[in-house]
Amino acid sequence: MDETALFKLTHGLYVLGACEPGGRYVGSIVDAVMQVANRPLVLALSCNNNSYTKECIEKTGEFSLSVIGKGVAPLVIANFGFQSSREINKWDNVKYYVDDQLPYLQNNLAAIRCKIIQKIAYESNTMFLAEVIGCQCNAEGEPLTYNDYRAYFKQEVLKAFQQQKEKGSTMSEEKKNNEGKKWVCTVCGYVYDGDVPFEDLPEDWVCPLCGVDKSFFELQ
Ligand SMILES: Cc1cc2nc3c(=O)[nH]c(=O)nc-3n(C[C@H](O)[C@H](O)[C@H](O)COP(=O)(O)O)c2cc1C
Repeated sequence: MDETALFKLTHGLYVLGACEPGGRYVGSIVDAVMQVANRPLVLALSCNNNSYTKECIEKTGEFSLSVIGKGVAPLVIANFGFQSSREINKWDNVKYYVDDQLPYLQNNLAAIRCKIIQKIAYESNTMFLAEVIGCQCNAEGEPLTYNDYRAYFKQEVLKAFQQQKEKGSTMSEEKKNNEGKKWVCTVCGYVYDGDVPFEDLPEDWVCPLCGVDKSFFELQ
């Protein structure tokens, strides 16, 4: 069998969100999601059995999905896909909102809330069948696909994650250090308030007010 044939199946990429029974938010990146019925609206979600998010979903019976757009910062994927909620609070590292005790990425294209109706356990994974109990479109844009990730985005995600680690601080520590501080343009005073972390803006990014490059910004 040539299992790479399965890479020809197309998937999206989503941030799966859930709540620990104690109230802390957890989450991971998933691609194994698809709609399997119209009435009722049912999705299938497959989680690795060692995922902590999966453990929490089993306990609470609900999860959220944030549909990711192609413009997502690579660190968002690394944050949710390369580390476990057992060790860190992933949602502390991104902009998010909470709706009825489930977390969603601030910049999602669509937000979906599901309630588990059935589960099938395999050796490696658990498949949940879940009814959609809420959903909305939040922005125009192309969803990022798993094929995009494999074709070109994975390298950027790995690089961003590596750079983050080399800086010697975890994402949570960095956020704590920068808490309350803003990137300010030293030329015109513009205060950066974008959704992409300032550090992740491309090198050719310029101040939207006066046009100087990133090197003129200071954390204040
Ligand atoms: C591109 C990509 C796709 C992934 N797809 C899935 C998936 O469909 N199901 C799953 O359980 N984990 C998937 N993962 C792995 C989890 O996101 C990863 O193991 C995560 O660290 C689990 O975190 P947790 O322990 O906090 O749940 C994927 C990871 C990446 C980077």
